[in-house]
Amino acid sequence: MPIEFAERVRRMPVYPLAAGYDLGADVAMLASNECCFTPLPEVVQAATRVLGGVNRYPDPSYEPIRRALADRYGIPPQRIALGNGSCDILLAAGEALLEPGAEVVYAWPAFSVYPHLAAASGARAIQVPLDDEDRHDLDAIATEVTVATRLVLICNPNNPTSTAIGLDEIDAFMRRIPGHVAVILDEAYCEFSLTLGDTYASLDLLRKYSNLVLLRTFSKVYGLAGLRVGYALCGAEDFRVAVDQVRQPFYLNAAAQAAAVEALKHQDDVERRVTETIAGRLEMEDAVRALGLWVAKSDANFIWLHLPETVEEADVVSGLRDRGVLVRAGAALGREGSLRVTVGTDAENERFASALAAVL
Ligand SMILES: Cc1ncc(COP(=O)(O)O)c(C=O)c1O
Repeated sequence: MPIEFAERVRRMPVYPLAAGYDLGADVAMLASNECCFTPLPEVVQAATRVLGGVNRYPDPSYEPIRRALADRYGIPPQRIALGNGSCDILLAAGEALLEPGAEVVYAWPAFSVYPHLAAASGARAIQVPLDDEDRHDLDAIATEVTVATRLVLICNPNNPTSTAIGLDEIDAFMRRIPGHVAVILDEAYCEFSLTLGDTYASLDLLRKYSNLVLLRTFSKVYGLAGLRVGYALCGAEDFRVAVDQVRQPFYLNAAAQAAAVEALKHQDDVERRVTETIAGRLEMEDAVRALGLWVAKSDANFIWLHLPETVEEADVVSGLRDRGVLVRAGAALGREGSLRVTVGTDAENERFASALAAVL
């Protein structure tokens, strides 16, 4: 007789895993919005240094990384949540806020983990379509907030569509949301955004709205996806307390903590990565437009394009794969007939552009 699992497991969507990690070096890995730059030697050394002491559990107060982030962003350490990637904080927020009868509102397509929150908790998910430019429609989202709403998720810049909403619009949106509803502004890609300005800009909103949470990660521009470090800057301490309460105590391993603290010290390198990524992004967008395709105005380290109706998305994805270029199919992300392509090195970006031209 098979094991009987909880009913919620049957409701939970299976995360669309990226393929290709076994394909070796001669593949352009442009499917998972990772950073194409390897970690700095100082960051690798910091992570390596702590390995001799891993007979001990990691520091459960996370003091050095919490303090480093508090100093950088000027908010009290008690209002900074940490996690095994920002996904960890996202799922913990679902557990802490949602339950049957409650509602969570978010745009769709957006980050593919969002549907898990409702499925895992038994809450109702309200998915609000993006506008004609594949941007969040904040007005439509605000209209969906009811007495049952506990959580609103705004992905800015949005994964998978790469588009960003200006902070003035977010501010006007926040004014419409009751204070007891948590709003997570998922800013995993904020460093790459020209629309948002600098990474301090949205902190002004935190000072105004205690129900706001800025969710960020070391997986993208800091290049630490393989170590898993995420953080949330919270408008009030109670959000941090709740997400810590629902998780195991040791969610951030010792090497990840040490690497993140060191990575924060190298902001010149972060700026260089951003500049190079934006240059690569513009070249990719131009190459896609030159083929006559629509491409969203990207504020992230990836681009989002619509394929012509005359071609099958799956054929394009497999044609690119045959040419050593891995991208994400829109069907797996909520909109068939689209592709999400991460900005890679110059060589990878050129390889993508010529492979796409050949396939189409
Ligand atoms: C919008 C968004 N939020 C959060 C995450 C989670 O990142 P991590 O768990 O690696 O911090 C991702 C990862 O791709 C993302 O695209």
